[in-house]
Amino acid sequence: MTKRENFGSRATVIMAMAGSAIGLGNIWRFPFIVGEYGGAAFILVYIVCCFFLSMPILLSESIIGRRTHQGTFGAMNTLAPGSAWKWLGLLTIFSPLIILSYYSVVGGWSFAFLCKALALEFKPENAGAVTAMFGDFSSSTWGPLGCMAIFLVLTALIVYLGVNKGIEKFSKISIPVLFVLIVIIAIYSITLPGSGEGVRYLVKPDFSKLTPRAYAAALGQSFFSLSLGVGTMLTYSSYVRKDENILASAAGTAFFDLLFAILAGFAVMPAVFAAGIAPSSGPGLVFETLPFIFSKMGSGGQIISASVSILFFLTILVAALSSSISMMEVGVAYLVEEKGLYRRKATALLFCVTFVIGALCSLSFGSLSGVKLLGQTIFNFCDRLCSNFLMTVGALLFSLFVGWRMDKAAVKDELTNGGTLKGSARLFPVIYFLVKYVAPVTIAVIFIIGIIG
Ligand code: TRP
Repeated sequence: MTKRENFGSRATVIMAMAGSAIGLGNIWRFPFIVGEYGGAAFILVYIVCCFFLSMPILLSESIIGRRTHQGTFGAMNTLAPGSAWKWLGLLTIFSPLIILSYYSVVGGWSFAFLCKALALEFKPENAGAVTAMFGDFSSSTWGPLGCMAIFLVLTALIVYLGVNKGIEKFSKISIPVLFVLIVIIAIYSITLPGSGEGVRYLVKPDFSKLTPRAYAAALGQSFFSLSLGVGTMLTYSSYVRKDENILASAAGTAFFDLLFAILAGFAVMPAVFAAGIAPSSGPGLVFETLPFIFSKMGSGGQIISASVSILFFLTILVAALSSSISMMEVGVAYLVEEKGLYRRKATALLFCVTFVIGALCSLSFGSLSGVKLLGQTIFNFCDRLCSNFLMTVGALLFSLFVGWRMDKAAVKDELTNGGTLKGSARLFPVIYFLVKYVAPVTIAVIFIIGIIG
């Protein structure tokens, strides 16, 4: 067997993990959820969720992954051999593949819209037709399928190149580039005439909008954004060296992910307000509203707005790719380590599986829109199944595993590198309390509220 790869340094661990975390969740999902639940107040709840609930889960996954240096299935088998925990290992191979399937549909749209931006389709003459573009495109058959295939091929290619030459290299370049791009777009957005209202919306909290469902949405979004509950971060952590400080890398990852989401909020919302559109216009915000804005603003400086539209869809595409590779890596690690497949075969196999499920998701916007699973289209069913159910259950089980099943001394040993990291050792009682009690109880309560509320 070939030697298992490791991430090179603390910086590359954070880049790779932040690469997984920063994605469509930040640019596509976060702004419209903030819009739905009332702006700044929701962002505050989101920040609290991130540090008190998501961080403990991220640490739980990091502890399991780094302790065993194995993928999800192997890790569970090593730490709890012959027990029912192996089902958690299996679940976390299955769920990232479902997420990857519908994620690739949106990744394909991003690619398509990047091409449209490059072809200068978002111009003032088209302003009337631009909002219909997304509906027309996503409900057609071959275009979205082709773009999804391209997105998946790129994903598979990076994963095939391996942890160092593929994932690590790609993240090391893409994360700094993404930050530069999103800052440029946010500056453009904030300087548009009439954007002030949008900025106020993001910084001035209105607590009356905080319904119980808003809390459930904040938690769900925070898990999705940090790629939690399905073994992605566990698998990445299994490539972290023994002398690395996992508390520092988890904190760095959470910080950059949060920062990026907020920057994306400032890139999207002020522009939305400047164009006089309701912030709560839903998932179409990025693919309908923004192209409309780009085309309308064109009159004020066509070259600038065309360039920003290109940069914007490029940002989404690159961010989506740095996440999709992390989802595919979970399955690849399993097939390579547990089933003895070559990396090439494993990526090809996963490409085929996700292409088939992804195609069904893609077609559910068009010819398969009549097919309903529990009253939902195939795409929505996969999204709800994962983000409302599998990820939450997975996150809950990871925290229960570390808090109740693993030996406390082993947890401490892993977090503090055998007691050598003094800062982590000092924080250990707080972290352990969060992992053992606060996270599981709160997640369970919010989960139930989300279902009945
Ligand atoms: N976190 C990524 C985003 O915000 C998506 C993602 C990557 C993910 N891996 C995941 C989501 C695992 C859930 C589970 O776009």
